[in-house]
Amino acid sequence: MSTEDFIVTPCHDEGNIDYDKLTKRFGTERISSELLDRIKKNTGEDHFMLRRGVFFSHREMNRILEDYEKGKKFFLYTGRGPSGHTHIGHLVPWVFAKWLQEKFDVNMYFQLTDDEKFYAKSNLTLEDTKKFAYENALDFIALGFKPENTKIIINTRNIQTLYPIAAQVAKKVNFSNTKGVFGFTNETNIGMIFYTSLQSAPCFIEDKPVLIPLGVDQDPHFRITRDVAPKIGKQKPALIHNIMIPGLEGPGGKMSASSENGTIYTTDAPDVVKKKINKYAFSGGQPDIEQHRKIGGNPDVDVSYQYLRIFFEPDDNKLKSIHDDYKSGKMLTGELKGILIEKINEFLEVHQEKREKAKDQIDQFLYENK
Ligand code: TRP
Repeated sequence: MSTEDFIVTPCHDEGNIDYDKLTKRFGTERISSELLDRIKKNTGEDHFMLRRGVFFSHREMNRILEDYEKGKKFFLYTGRGPSGHTHIGHLVPWVFAKWLQEKFDVNMYFQLTDDEKFYAKSNLTLEDTKKFAYENALDFIALGFKPENTKIIINTRNIQTLYPIAAQVAKKVNFSNTKGVFGFTNETNIGMIFYTSLQSAPCFIEDKPVLIPLGVDQDPHFRITRDVAPKIGKQKPALIHNIMIPGLEGPGGKMSASSENGTIYTTDAPDVVKKKINKYAFSGGQPDIEQHRKIGGNPDVDVSYQYLRIFFEPDDNKLKSIHDDYKSGKMLTGELKGILIEKINEFLEVHQEKREKAKDQIDQFLYENK
């Protein structure tokens, strides 16, 4: 791989991602200013993740809005592969989905793919992935979803509901399709080969259009689903994609739950957050204070600044003054990190309380097979 290049797939991403090139490569559409206005017209508000390009691309979001404007409601669907504890990067599409749900007043489904991560990770048992599914569900619920219009699907638990839909899909996907999309080989286990049909299934759980907020690395699964949909008499799922959230140790990759140091978990204590940010967060600052004051920092590559932009500082004015002060050299890296540490810890204090309460609410959220 040359330094100019990058890779984004559901299992892997690498290199500095060029999002213009990626939309071309994937065949998705950049979110235009017209689309932003149209979303704003319907929601009455413009979300900072849209405004700042954290959500940057889509497939057929216009159709969803067109139907909605005519009075036809859609539903929302997203998910998580429970391969480990939840980290703050995972919350990005969930928080955004929560906002969409509130503004459009629609149903939401959240899929936890315990089977997928069992197939994909040689070191995890099915018991492990079930346990992480439960842990991840607590984080999802803690964001404030309501059981009346939000259901959590756990693949092994809801297979009775999913299987008849997955079978419709599976019959229309052949090995060369998935092989082309995911790079499977003869050594790939057959669970993985079938798996996309299970991730497709919730798209067709209600007889309505579906909108999926998701990390752009998940797009390939739904490219397959979109090809299949008309063949089984269904509408194609519409998608809205967020950028990959960088790990602490550097821009250009997503936060990986498997690299402990590069990851802030939703269950981390305040002193752990402080230590991780101070020690590992990649800095756009200069090697010493004198140079930093003179040349200034680079917020574009500074992970602490990026976390504020992506998630933790919704106020544009505050963000801009941090940006300008850091860039001019007035603000030092240690000060910038201090701001982020405080923001994360404020967020986590509330989140962890709600996460505890979620333990008593989880049963109300679990989808019951009909
Ligand atoms: N495969 C996803 C992951 O590894 C989990 C997932 C299931 C998902 N259904 C989804 C993600 C729908 C986004 C949208 O994390």
